[in-house]
Amino acid sequence: MLSGYFNSLHMNKYIFVLGRKWKLCAAELIAVLGADNVTDLSQEILVKDFAHELEDPQALLDGLGGTIKIAQVFAKVNNLDEVQKVVVDHLKENRDGKLIFALGLYNFAHTYKIDLRNLLKNVKNGLRDGGKVRFLNSPTSNVKSAVARMEKLDLNGTDISVFRTENGKYLVAHSVAIQDFKQYSLRDYDRPGRDAKSGMLPPKLAQIMINLACGSEKCKVYDPFCGSGTVLMEGALLGHKMTGSDISEKAIIDSRKNIDWLAENFEIGDASKMQIFVKDATRIESKDLDEKPDHIVCETYLGPPVSKCPLPKTMEIDFKEIQAIIIGALRALKPILNAKSNVVMVVPFYRDGGKRYFLENLVEKIKELGYDVADLFPEEFEKTFEITCTRRGSLTYDRTDQTVGREIFRFVLKN
Ligand SMILES: C[S@@+](CC[C@H](N)C(=O)[O-])C[C@H]1O[C@@H](n2cnc3c(N)ncnc32)[C@H](O)[C@@H]1O
Repeated sequence: MLSGYFNSLHMNKYIFVLGRKWKLCAAELIAVLGADNVTDLSQEILVKDFAHELEDPQALLDGLGGTIKIAQVFAKVNNLDEVQKVVVDHLKENRDGKLIFALGLYNFAHTYKIDLRNLLKNVKNGLRDGGKVRFLNSPTSNVKSAVARMEKLDLNGTDISVFRTENGKYLVAHSVAIQDFKQYSLRDYDRPGRDAKSGMLPPKLAQIMINLACGSEKCKVYDPFCGSGTVLMEGALLGHKMTGSDISEKAIIDSRKNIDWLAENFEIGDASKMQIFVKDATRIESKDLDEKPDHIVCETYLGPPVSKCPLPKTMEIDFKEIQAIIIGALRALKPILNAKSNVVMVVPFYRDGGKRYFLENLVEKIKELGYDVADLFPEEFEKTFEITCTRRGSLTYDRTDQTVGREIFRFVLKN
């Protein structure tokens, strides 16, 4: 047996492969699973020890917008020869006739391509005797999770991840759950009510925001800018009690259509009971709501649709209007909230190539109203893993080709 093989005490170590906006994805995981026993964090993965084996990793993953795969570690070894040996042994054990496997290397920096190529070749050679064997990788890149899922590698234990730790050891894991990309796409593109003009949250981001607000609890969540209802849909699927409102009648009609469609196609209980109504968020009052919410999760007005970054004068006008709506809504929401309420909110920023323009005085104004910006990571965790939010305490979600980016905050009432 190799020196670094795990004994049974360590078998509950899991690798979470993070999405593109890895800080946001890590923040979501910390909110849902806690920051304790996290042993490694990089721009691609988070590693955490659990007291027990995860009972239903696919159900856990389906509720996480920011994690692409969950892989269970089966070995910790000292060098790449040992990696090769444990991977071959593992695949032999899981072999059932023709073998298809994939290798994903994480945190390998500049040696990534050469290490991947060598490992693929050597693992394949090591398996030759037992019959046909094929790897899904191109020799120079990790396999896309959608491809690994389509080939059902997670069910066969043949989607292998190797993570190089900071102290030069290797964790070797096999996927036990892979993101169900078809379900996200169905909820995003097949719902009947869509409004690309106002902007719709990607369902994954809506999940992340709800998880940042609720953690592992089932809550009452209110979205006062519900638009066509992405937050309402994702919250209902996660088992929360959702309420939504919007100033636009069309938005409310779309939300209702989408919730009814969701109830027909997914398990969310009696959708007809969800309170969805027309209301200006800056004028919301307790009496408008059937029940007091625990938390607010919303994406505010993003400004008028734009195809390129507005000129400074227009930007100033847009920002003024957006800021007035945000401040008005937070003022009106204050009496509805309690000391433990989280307000997880997306606000827009503009991008012009590499330059980003944020709502400048927003945080100061919100503090004057009696709110604080809550940390998205515990202080100790930030220190240990040297991970930081923006100076304003937010995280961003954008792509280089987008003009309007999203900035995510968690606000709480000052105590
Ligand atoms: C970016 S959209 C929200 C989209 C939503 N997250 C979704 O995925 O469908 C912003 C929404 O804010 C609404 N809105 C703008 N001003 C508002 C106000 N004062 N009160 C309530 N809703 C408002 C708009 O009608 C629009 O539906």
